[in-house]
Amino acid sequence: MSTVAVVGTQWGDEGKGKAIDYIATRADMVVRAQGGNNAGHSVVIDGKKYALHLIPSGILNAKTINIIGNGVVFDPEGFFNELKDLEDDGINTKNLFISDRAHIVFDYHKIIDSLGEKSKGSKKVGTTNKGIGPCYMDKMERTGIRMCDVLDDDLFEAKLSAQIDRKNDMITKLYGGEPLDKTALMKKYTDYAKRLKPYVKDTSVMVYEAVKAGRKVLFEGAQGTMLDIDLGTYPYVTSSHPVSGGFTTGSGVSPRDINEIIGIVKAYTTRVGEGPFVTEEDNETGDKIREIGHEYGVTTGRPRRCGWLDLVVVRYAARVNGLTGISLMLLDVLDQFETINVCVGYEYNGEVLTDFPASLKIQEESRPVYKTLRGWNTPITGCRSYEDLPEEAKAYIKEIEEFSGVPVKIISVGPDREQTMIRGELF
Ligand code: GDP
Ligand code: IMO
Ligand code: MG
Repeated sequence: MSTVAVVGTQWGDEGKGKAIDYIATRADMVVRAQGGNNAGHSVVIDGKKYALHLIPSGILNAKTINIIGNGVVFDPEGFFNELKDLEDDGINTKNLFISDRAHIVFDYHKIIDSLGEKSKGSKKVGTTNKGIGPCYMDKMERTGIRMCDVLDDDLFEAKLSAQIDRKNDMITKLYGGEPLDKTALMKKYTDYAKRLKPYVKDTSVMVYEAVKAGRKVLFEGAQGTMLDIDLGTYPYVTSSHPVSGGFTTGSGVSPRDINEIIGIVKAYTTRVGEGPFVTEEDNETGDKIREIGHEYGVTTGRPRRCGWLDLVVVRYAARVNGLTGISLMLLDVLDQFETINVCVGYEYNGEVLTDFPASLKIQEESRPVYKTLRGWNTPITGCRSYEDLPEEAKAYIKEIEEFSGVPVKIISVGPDREQTMIRGELF
């Protein structure tokens, strides 16, 4: 298979960064197609940790071409900070291109993000405050500013000037906030625009040509299926399409050109921000998972909410993404449990649901139906092949495969690149 898409199956932070970096060691090109620097992907290579937000995880492989596709919302400030951190670590950042159709995140998006959250009070989404939703709002409203605009100084200045006036109106009149200093903002972003010019390309053509030439192309998902604006736990979602379909509109490739779709499944479930979470363990079990799994956000540092693996969610993700394989992550975090629960249904109003419901109310009022499996209760971080795993861990994997109908092709037992096992051929 020459093209592989990697998607999060839960609420993000499933370990996509690690899995992508592992697969990317064989890839010629890595493509991001949605979200922005709300993502936080950690990759550990030989004990050194890298945190990637906007830049594709393929950047850690010197020869891989990295594409930020048209569906991404691009924050220049975040980008240049991330670039500097990578360069300080001696990473070659030359092979990096940004779509001329990607929309740009400005300071006013971030400010409106926090003002909007504040105004929602207890109904806040718990966003990352990176301006993601407000930037996608401009895109949908058809007033956004795109990367191709930075190539024309006069056009860029005219568009930005008009947009700052509109946003200042919104900030002051709707939210009663302080207006932004227009002169300072114009200067800040016209400087960024100059620095961005060399990166701007028609990346859809680049991806197409790579696919046509049979190169190995890896599509890197951010966030996760349950955060999808259409298919997730709306309104507690992000504003893009983290499902496999998002790669086509977000990078300009045909669905026919995506061969393999790998779903990243964390061996348990976590969520940051607000919203329903049927298998949440807001108790000692959740605390134990959080401490062993170091479940604190890469982007915001927030403690993640933790709970058991929800197979209703995984099976839903298998269906809506068309998964051809699963990469099971952080299995080692369950090393210290006598028994392990997996959720195989939702009890609601005396009925058991096995398809993820649309209604927020039903999600909130559903109780998990658990199947209890025996834990392996022994460290597996040193295992390097499936055969090395304890029988109980193999039974856990089998349960996931049977319920979701998808084979587990990659198993991860620690954060390092080395702590990975692969079953069969992947890429
Ligand atoms: P992403 O957003 O999906 O890329 O995931 P994050 O990077 O936000 O969170 C996953 C965390 O788990 C990171 O700190 C990884 O270094 C770590 N990690 C990934 N795979 C494993 C694993 O198999 N075992 C353990 N213990 N940690 C892992
Ligand atoms: P990665 O790629 C986990 C969550 C936020 C919030 C909701 C909306 O690291 O898996 P946004 O700022 O996007 O408008 O916030 O989505 N969220 C994530 N949660 N991992 C992520 O990315 C996330 N990106 C956004 O916490 O609940
Ligand atoms: Mg993350």
